[in-house]
Amino acid sequence: MTEDLDRLLMDARARIDAASRRTDLEEARVALLGRSSELTQQLRGIATLPPEQRGPVGKRLNEVRQAIEAAFAEREAEVAARELAEQLERERVDVTLPGAVVPRGGLHLLTQTRREIEDIFLGLGYEIAEGPEIELEYNNFAALNFSDDHPAKAETDTLWIAPGVLLRTHTSPVQARALRAGPPPIYVIVPGRVYRRDTPDATHSPIFHQVEGLVVDRGITLGDLKGTLAYFARSLFGADRETRFRTSFFPFTEPSVEVDVSCFLCDGAGCVVCKHSGWIEILGAGEVDQNVLAMAGLDTDEWQGFAFGMGIERIAFLKYGFPDLRMLYDNDLRFLEQFPA
Ligand code: DAH
Repeated sequence: MTEDLDRLLMDARARIDAASRRTDLEEARVALLGRSSELTQQLRGIATLPPEQRGPVGKRLNEVRQAIEAAFAEREAEVAARELAEQLERERVDVTLPGAVVPRGGLHLLTQTRREIEDIFLGLGYEIAEGPEIELEYNNFAALNFSDDHPAKAETDTLWIAPGVLLRTHTSPVQARALRAGPPPIYVIVPGRVYRRDTPDATHSPIFHQVEGLVVDRGITLGDLKGTLAYFARSLFGADRETRFRTSFFPFTEPSVEVDVSCFLCDGAGCVVCKHSGWIEILGAGEVDQNVLAMAGLDTDEWQGFAFGMGIERIAFLKYGFPDLRMLYDNDLRFLEQFPA
């Protein structure tokens, strides 16, 4: 009997020592101490022993049981410590490794240029106004003093949606909206997308962007327009730039001008960009035509204004000198990444 128990204890210790993972130990515990284990069977068998043997056998069996439990406890501590050490090693973070580079997005050149233009006027106290891209024919043309037979209204230029409804061909209809929206003074700039029935090429796109400006206040003169736009041109193209105002025609301004800036590439000496003239046209402008003010219900004795409009693509094109407008829309990162922001 005692020999049997010695063997049982030895076997149990061997099995416990052989278990190297917690799961092995759990299996060993069931096998050695569980309901169908040899030890449990023997403990149950005590009742069938002659009374005088029950005490000593029971005592001995309990000693064996305690010894096995102690062996388990010791081994469990070892295994747990080793598993923890392994886990820590596995999950070790080498903080000296170089980080994985997450590529950073940037603002598109058109967005950068738009914001640059906006910032100059925001700094002068202008507010940003917006209008819909699907616009009424009335706001796009008639409210801006276009005659009914103006050539810009022809199918070749305008994308019509329905009779009387079109994709705006410029941001100027927002002038008409701003004039009706509330009493002057008005100092707004209007960035936005515009549409024309043009075939794309190096300098044309059927969808492009403009920034419109409108000022209406008391006592506004052509001098205010010239001062404002000269300041704008110098802010955008450099403090040394000169501006030149040429007379022009737009239905909604009288007088109308086109504004040139002295060529920032050749400094006026003559190059391909300025077509050897020394000057580059950057925008159209003028005093708001009295008819436009009157159609919006404003008293032209009290209120005067000036307006201007420019193409954002054209400004970016001139400023950065890339060869084809379509590069702005190709989403080729090799191009776009040259203008980080
Ligand atoms: N709307 C004109 C165009 O698309 C640009 C323009 C010219 C806007 C003169 C103005 C202006 O506000 O005064 O060609």
